[in-house]
Amino acid sequence: MERTVIIDALKRTDYGQKICVKGWVRSRRGNKNVSFIALNDGSTIKNIQIVADAAKFSDEELKPITTGSCICCVGTLVESQGAGQTSEIQADTLEVYGTADPEQYPLQKKGLSMEYLRTIAHLRPRTNTFGAVLRIRHNMAMAIHSYFHQHGYFYFHTPLITASDCEGAGQMFQVTTKNLYNLKYDEEGHIDYSDDFFGKQASLTVSGQLEGELGAMALGKIYTFGPTFRAENSNTPRHLAEFWMIEPEIAFMDKQEMMDLEEDDLKYCVRWALDNCMDDLEFLNQFVDKGLIDRLKSVIDTEFVRLPYTEGIEILQEAIRNGKKFEFPCEWGDDLSSEHERYLVEEHFKKPVIMTDYPREIKAFYMKLNEGGKTVQGTDVLFPQIGEIIGGSVREESYDKLMNEIEVRQIPMKDMWWYLDTRRFGSAPHAGFGLGFERLMLFVTGMQNIRDVIPFPRTPKTAEF
Ligand code: 4AD
Ligand code: MG
Repeated sequence: MERTVIIDALKRTDYGQKICVKGWVRSRRGNKNVSFIALNDGSTIKNIQIVADAAKFSDEELKPITTGSCICCVGTLVESQGAGQTSEIQADTLEVYGTADPEQYPLQKKGLSMEYLRTIAHLRPRTNTFGAVLRIRHNMAMAIHSYFHQHGYFYFHTPLITASDCEGAGQMFQVTTKNLYNLKYDEEGHIDYSDDFFGKQASLTVSGQLEGELGAMALGKIYTFGPTFRAENSNTPRHLAEFWMIEPEIAFMDKQEMMDLEEDDLKYCVRWALDNCMDDLEFLNQFVDKGLIDRLKSVIDTEFVRLPYTEGIEILQEAIRNGKKFEFPCEWGDDLSSEHERYLVEEHFKKPVIMTDYPREIKAFYMKLNEGGKTVQGTDVLFPQIGEIIGGSVREESYDKLMNEIEVRQIPMKDMWWYLDTRRFGSAPHAGFGLGFERLMLFVTGMQNIRDVIPFPRTPKTAEF
């Protein structure tokens, strides 16, 4: 008999009809007359209840149906008597596909800690929390593609292996086929990469932006959406070594328009979650973060603050004068740390902030210089609970100014000729940003740690699974 997925089974009202469901047992309880099996197949956070009459099933048959086991049930769809349920199944046959020894199955108990669940990341998708998170993750990816497709952007695939360092921060993982046990060095102690796979030093990309700019200079509006890699040794709840990033790049866009785009895109994704993921959000709102749904609703209803960095520093210093204590300094010229960002967003404005016009020294080489040369047209979006969720900028389109930055910052030029060509041949004003997909996920799910919004997190000293 054809299988009905549980999300559809729960909607059916053709009581009396035969139905077949398959899934993993969340629990079995009951007495000597009847067993109640809560079955979940991942299609929804909701379980369907299977009622197994002792008259039909022997103890021997029911014994292997324990938490975590996988079964197939054929039976009759009936209207449920229990509160909060619509339909349930009166079982005719129960087939066990796979048992899960109760002595060994790690997901027996409820309320396991997030830390423990990370050690069993191969099984944690079967919990309610991770099921919810992962369904929302899928939805957010769909929202991103839908948003950009609807707005006339082309999905432009940028390479994951690259020979250039977009952010110039030197946090790249190397890609090589060289025998690391037998490296040869020249007189200066450098490795000769000419016989390496790519004939030069290559790495995993930290950002698709540079190639994205090439796409925008031909197709007008593009976005990339793929994994990026950073070998930064930051063990925080907001950093991964492998994370996904959405990077639109748009010809002829100025700073104002880009801030509008950043705000509109984020609101679209949050609205998508509210429209399409309510069952999962309600679960997370109840068990993970009581303020979640209110916070999501408030974001789509508020206008984001737009705040020049210099004014932000003034607000922070005023706060310090009034007795606020920060761990890190925040003089003009300092990079803001997340305590500063969160003060501005959560305590001062109580809404998302788009911070602009940062000091040139703390931002990347490609950002467009403002007049006077002290600040650049960067536009970071700062979110409650998260801090920086988007980093973006108007790009420097002048060949001479860009060259100057590259020289001052001693960025290895040899491998950047193709990027500079965009400024030599039909250069155009343009802008773009990078939205951290897992940071968006943190916001939309209310989860506290970025390790818990991606199936298999990669962080310093962790590459299990
Ligand atoms: O601010 P970032 O470093 O900007 C760039 O990479 C630009 N090239 C993007 C562009 O303009 N096309 O990173 C962008 C965003 C951050 O705002 C943050 O949300 C996320 O990427 N991000 C990380 N997310 C998880 N783990 C990390 N280690 C992250 N580093 C950055
Ligand atoms: Mg940034």
